[in-house]
Amino acid sequence: MSERVAVVTGGIGGLGTAIVRALAESGRQVVAADLDQDSQRVREFRTAHAGFGDRVGYAVVDVTDFASCAALIQQVEASRGPVAILVNAAGITRDATLRKMDPAQWQAVLRVNLEGAFNMCRQVVESMSEHGFGRIINISSVNGQTGQFGQTNYAASKAGLHGLSMALARELAKKGVTVNSISPGYCRTPMVEAIPAPLREQIISQIPVGRIGEPEDIARAVRFLSEDAAGYITGINLPVNGGAFISF
Ligand code: CAA
Repeated sequence: MSERVAVVTGGIGGLGTAIVRALAESGRQVVAADLDQDSQRVREFRTAHAGFGDRVGYAVVDVTDFASCAALIQQVEASRGPVAILVNAAGITRDATLRKMDPAQWQAVLRVNLEGAFNMCRQVVESMSEHGFGRIINISSVNGQTGQFGQTNYAASKAGLHGLSMALARELAKKGVTVNSISPGYCRTPMVEAIPAPLREQIISQIPVGRIGEPEDIARAVRFLSEDAAGYITGINLPVNGGAFISF
């Protein structure tokens, strides 16, 4: 596989870290982009990926800030070359039933999960089109397909990513650029670990394959959609959820 340059937002998060690793193992140059300036998480990430040498890097980005996204892409393109693969994996939850949700909880989730994807896509589409190659993968969620109690904000943002992906896929279809979303089910991440334990156990017990998803399950799907040979797959949403839709 070629050394194409990949950027993964949420790159040191639960799913992002596994995605960075999978792409690096495929021979990509990968920049993990996340909010932290210099934290324990960043240091652990650097240590864990030291074996990849310069091929894996870390950069700071605030995906809610258009200028920050522009600066990230400029910096990556200046140091490594055109971005060929963009994975929008930055995501947050602020769970609450709608009757208790305040506007800040709604806005925070929409801004990171949905507007963040716009802010990043906007930086790369022109260059990808000019080069006649690109792979954009938006990490959505099973809860964007089914809804989830206490997640009107999150479900709206993740369903929104499907719409964004399909519309952008149409705009870029003739340019060699594909745009897809992946909808993970419940995976072993800090986000899922934060669900109250009894509720989490109940959710996991209903997964048909009988186990929680591993971040690597999602990373493998990202790697597949990012391949040069995946050029005929665009505008889809790929559910990776342990069979959640066959549970009834
Ligand atoms: N389904 C049905 N009813 C539920 C419920 C559920 N899941 N959860 C709570 N209720 C009921 C309660 O039994 C209670 O009923 P009564 O009023 O009859 O007693 C009522 O709803 C409580 O309502 P509240 O508005 O007071 O809710 P709360 O403040 O107690 O808790 C919540 C709401 C914080 C959202 C809590 O339900 C929760 O933490 N849910 C988890 C949401 C979840 O699954 N998040 C996924 C995070 S991981 C992720 O998102 C990754 C991914 O992509 C898969």
